[in-house]
Amino acid sequence: MPGKSSRIPKFYKLSIDERLKKVAEFAELTGEEIETLSKLGNLDPKIADVMIENVIGGMTYPFAVATNFLINGKDYLVPMVIEESSVVAAASNAARVMRRDGGIASVATDSIMIGQIQLVGVKNPFYAKQVIIEHKDEIIKIANEQDPILVNLGGGAKDIEVRVIDTRVGPMVITHLLVDVKDAMGANAVNTMTEAVAPYIEDWTGGRVYLRIISNLADKRLVRSRVKVYAEDIGGEEVVDGIVAASAFAEADPYRAATHNKGIMNGIIAVALATGQDHRALEAGAHSYAARTGVYTTLSRWEKTDDGNLVGTLEMPMAVGIIGGAVKVHPVARIALKIMGVKTARELAEVMGAVGLAQNFAALRALATEGIQRGHMKLHARNLAVMAGATGELIDKVASIMIKEGRIRFDRAKELVEELTKGTK
Ligand code: MEV
Repeated sequence: MPGKSSRIPKFYKLSIDERLKKVAEFAELTGEEIETLSKLGNLDPKIADVMIENVIGGMTYPFAVATNFLINGKDYLVPMVIEESSVVAAASNAARVMRRDGGIASVATDSIMIGQIQLVGVKNPFYAKQVIIEHKDEIIKIANEQDPILVNLGGGAKDIEVRVIDTRVGPMVITHLLVDVKDAMGANAVNTMTEAVAPYIEDWTGGRVYLRIISNLADKRLVRSRVKVYAEDIGGEEVVDGIVAASAFAEADPYRAATHNKGIMNGIIAVALATGQDHRALEAGAHSYAARTGVYTTLSRWEKTDDGNLVGTLEMPMAVGIIGGAVKVHPVARIALKIMGVKTARELAEVMGAVGLAQNFAALRALATEGIQRGHMKLHARNLAVMAGATGELIDKVASIMIKEGRIRFDRAKELVEELTKGTK
């Protein structure tokens, strides 16, 4: 028998069901597996089939809501989609102790994204740079002709920056097009503009343009969030000191900073998934911003005030949109935005910055006190109980017995479910 081939001509032209059938044959999926994979949940097959290519089914993640968030004096229910237990509970708990003094303060800048145009093959790169700068008004005009709607809304290309960089294949002249993308994430608008401008830059300089693409290091589209947490609300000054030490550790050590920032992104990406954002762009922006000085560090900092309380600040890029992309086509993303009640991309960025700060606080508080495993284990125990067939009150009963015994395992959960339901079935 010939080996299986992944070369399936015109696979993309088949229907979802036809594709699934082919995959099922290839992977010898059972009827039950096919049935599970074929479920598209709350996404219309027609929409799924145009969102990405070669669709064969769906995969549902839980959609949850974090409570207690008071941001800039306004209450928010924050939709979160994530596979990791504890994140939603941690965010809600953190937000509960952040409600004093009007809650978390969060301010986003204008939605300025950067489009890059890479010029190579110029003998006199600094001369070429000057020539490009002299054409600034023309560049902005050409860029803005691509998107009259955005310009009408007050957005569009606003400025340029030109740099000469040294690379291992010689100098390059990199033009940055600064575009106010308003309520969009902006990749489409910016990419179209950079492509339109590129031939002119080649013309004026005699060089060759290769790349024309948005930069995910969105350092002109930042959110800044800050909060004060009172020592008496979180277990006293010792906890404050522990959190400050945890922050200082991460600020000084890239190994720890990566995990510290991962904790921030737990919250941010969960909101990003719920609201249909390009979460890879957010991750890329966050981590490149954290490394902008050449040494990777934290996106947030925690300090102790004179009166013994805790203050936290976060500053990071936040390229999010409320129009275009998956936000527009995925019905759940629209519902998520409605639950949040955000009216602009700026407001969404402000909420997401606040969520990142709260999530970070929750992680540091747990790490600086009891450690994170206890909370994780509680949820893990509940998950195991559900997997073992527990429902209703039985879930917590099974979970708490396993925790007490220190035996948080699936086989034990099964045993307990059997024991506790004996005679009731
Ligand atoms: C786990 O998903 C996130 C944490 O590791 C974050 C941190 O260490 O700060 C708990």
